[in-house]
Amino acid sequence: METSRTNRQRFLAACRCDKVDRPPVWLMRQAGRSLPEYRALKEKHPFIELVRTPELAAEVTLQPIRRFDFDAAVLFSDILVVPEAMGQPYSFLENGGGIEMDFAVNSAEQIRRLDDTQAIDRLNYVAEAIRLIRPALNDRTALLGFAGSPWTLARYMVEGSSSARNEHAKALFYSKPALFSELMEKVTSVVTEFLKLQISSGVDAVQIFDSGGDSLADNAYEAASGRWIRDIVTSLAGRVPVILFSKGAQGRLPSLVATGANILSVDWTQSLAEIRGMLPDAVGVQGNLDPFLLTTTPEIVTAETARILSEMKSFTGHVFNLGHGVPATARLECIEALVNTVRTHQ
Ligand code: CP3
Repeated sequence: METSRTNRQRFLAACRCDKVDRPPVWLMRQAGRSLPEYRALKEKHPFIELVRTPELAAEVTLQPIRRFDFDAAVLFSDILVVPEAMGQPYSFLENGGGIEMDFAVNSAEQIRRLDDTQAIDRLNYVAEAIRLIRPALNDRTALLGFAGSPWTLARYMVEGSSSARNEHAKALFYSKPALFSELMEKVTSVVTEFLKLQISSGVDAVQIFDSGGDSLADNAYEAASGRWIRDIVTSLAGRVPVILFSKGAQGRLPSLVATGANILSVDWTQSLAEIRGMLPDAVGVQGNLDPFLLTTTPEIVTAETARILSEMKSFTGHVFNLGHGVPATARLECIEALVNTVRTHQ
């Protein structure tokens, strides 16, 4: 077992399911509202300006690394920059929270109008942010890029907002399969090019967020989401490790494994060790502390973090994380307790 690893080497070794001294740790939404330094920047700049300005996106990416020295930094951006670049702008509702697209895409004409040829040029600000972050991390910390899965993006694009509770994307999938495929092919192609752009700009690994996949029946998962993710992973041709975040993983493990992702990121409702035990040796897991616990006490977080670490002790291929993103009301001393427990657990 090696001991003298940098955080970056430890993270990449765990992604390959190699033996490591301890699991690497980073947290989904580690940059954001739980940090006072993020809230201070938000007083001066709206969310979308933070995302679109490379210097500001780089600063927000680095904030949690300075404070907690995580093994990986995650690029500060949003999955909705892809539909925006295809011609469907969105806004963040600064007062109420949530996201609203300027219009919903719900006709054949609108789907045909989505631009999948020049979208990638409009995303160049993300490449610029990565080129600022990479040297600032100084080879010590891994840098993770990301994108939404085509299904998760389609849900926002067809629905038009994060609060709508209709199922227009599902209706499209079941009742107009040819049109659904047309939309998914366009989104898949832009997401693939976008991840390639992030890789050539310097990210060490990428995560695909299939946060909306849990709305699908297990038997629809492959056709509505899994196969499009597989197309993306295949096109990336193993250039960097791929992490796939999926909720409700247990019911669709064959599809998730078939995507070719190196690591499956598992939500907190499942047993991480049980899922790892069902996976091929070369496919690891990420997770899966209940994010809610970050709003409780350091003692509770320490105990529950230790429980997951003990459960995973005999397995390679574990990246420690939450089961979903850091809540805005997370207490900093709880995040501190999580990180310290991962670093010192025997
Ligand atoms: O993990 C990270 O720290 C990287 C940055 C990141 C953000 N969003 C920043 C953000 C990532 C990876 C995302 C992904 C994302 N964005 C997803 C998939 C992952 C998930 O959490 O399920 C989705 C569905 C979105 C779309 C989105 N962005 C919504 C629905 C919202 C509003 C709800 C909310 O949580 O506030 C956002 C806003 C957003 N994206 C914030 C951040 C830090 C909050 C902005 C703020 O309050 O200042």
